[in-house]
Amino acid sequence: MAKKSSRKSTSATALRSVSKPEIGINIGINEKDRLTLAEGLSHLLADTYTLYLKTHYYHWNVTGPMFQTLHLMFETQYNELALAVDAIAERIRSLGSVAPGTYSAYAKLSKIEEDNDVPSAREMIARLVQAHETVLRTARSVFPIADQAVDEATADLLTQRLQVHEKTAWMLRSLLAE
Ligand SMILES: [Fe+2]
Repeated sequence: MAKKSSRKSTSATALRSVSKPEIGINIGINEKDRLTLAEGLSHLLADTYTLYLKTHYYHWNVTGPMFQTLHLMFETQYNELALAVDAIAERIRSLGSVAPGTYSAYAKLSKIEEDNDVPSAREMIARLVQAHETVLRTARSVFPIADQAVDEATADLLTQRLQVHEKTAWMLRSLLAE
């Protein structure tokens, strides 16, 4: 059983404890790497889910002259994010770990801040740009681990997520231009 004493994450412990009862996994990625990948992906899952919820929250509560445009744009975005969390979670399962799926776990794992207010339409866009950029940094941080483990499936998933978040961040940023 791999030890990662320097990592304080409770998720790692949870991920590790459930791999026991399952049938042995022999996909050409050793257990230590699978656990490290699953932990990285669990951060990506938490970020993506938190961004999903934030985008849905803005869809419901946006006001102002751009209401129709933003209400519909946010809907397109949260629908894409809802599909993304499923793909990320199922990749974690394929690597032999449990996919986190509670608000308390996501609060610990995600780097995206929750809203304590209802921001203006413009502030919603600005916060979404920041949140997409946060997801991008998390996704990119998992890449070296996937490369080192020759985990092309995870690298492919990460590439897709990077493309979506970079494009969405660009589109949102463009709305803020004077
Ligand atoms: Fe709706």
